[in-house]
Amino acid sequence: MLASGTGSILKAVLDAGVPVSVVLADRPCRALELASLAGVETVLLDRRDFGGFGAGFDRARYTEALTGELAGRDLDLVAMAGFGTVLTEQVHEVFPGRILNTHPSLLPAFPGWHAVADALAAGVRTTGCTVHAATPEVDAGPVLAREEVPVYPDDTEETLHERIKQVERRLYPDTILRVLGELEPVEPTRA
Ligand code: GAR
Repeated sequence: MLASGTGSILKAVLDAGVPVSVVLADRPCRALELASLAGVETVLLDRRDFGGFGAGFDRARYTEALTGELAGRDLDLVAMAGFGTVLTEQVHEVFPGRILNTHPSLLPAFPGWHAVADALAAGVRTTGCTVHAATPEVDAGPVLAREEVPVYPDDTEETLHERIKQVERRLYPDTILRVLGELEPVEPTRA
């Protein structure tokens, strides 16, 4: 799994019994600590070693390094949970259709990094979360599951995001397990 933040979605995925072989983060974060506590291998592929968070960030070289880390493992799926780096097409070529993401809005509404604030600013009375297969285009790609969440008049970004995350903590593990169950079994090679 790929994460950057508090790791509450990651923890829910682990608690649901999804077999996670590695957690990779782009910065030191609570998600890495949670993974370590759960006995899962962790990789810190720090953006600061690739030009940091500004204009100098070498996205292509970062993606190449990340893809190399993942391709060396026997992974069925790559699941992003609040991963804060947009990756280039290269990773999608190596894991076509096998990268999942959870997003805190009802896509295609409110893509991007400020989905919860944008929903509040738009004054919608219902938002939600979307689990989708990731593509090179950010927050696009085939929708696998969506669930509505109400917006209350006194909501702040924090209260609304937490209500959405409560749903993501159920919907994302359930969807990952469903997708894993639907994957084509790998044919054993004959000698
Ligand atoms: C989740 O709400 C996830 O949908 C969002 O980051 C949060 C991670 O929560 N991802 C995005 O906004 C990606 N565009 P966590 O750090 O508590 O697991």
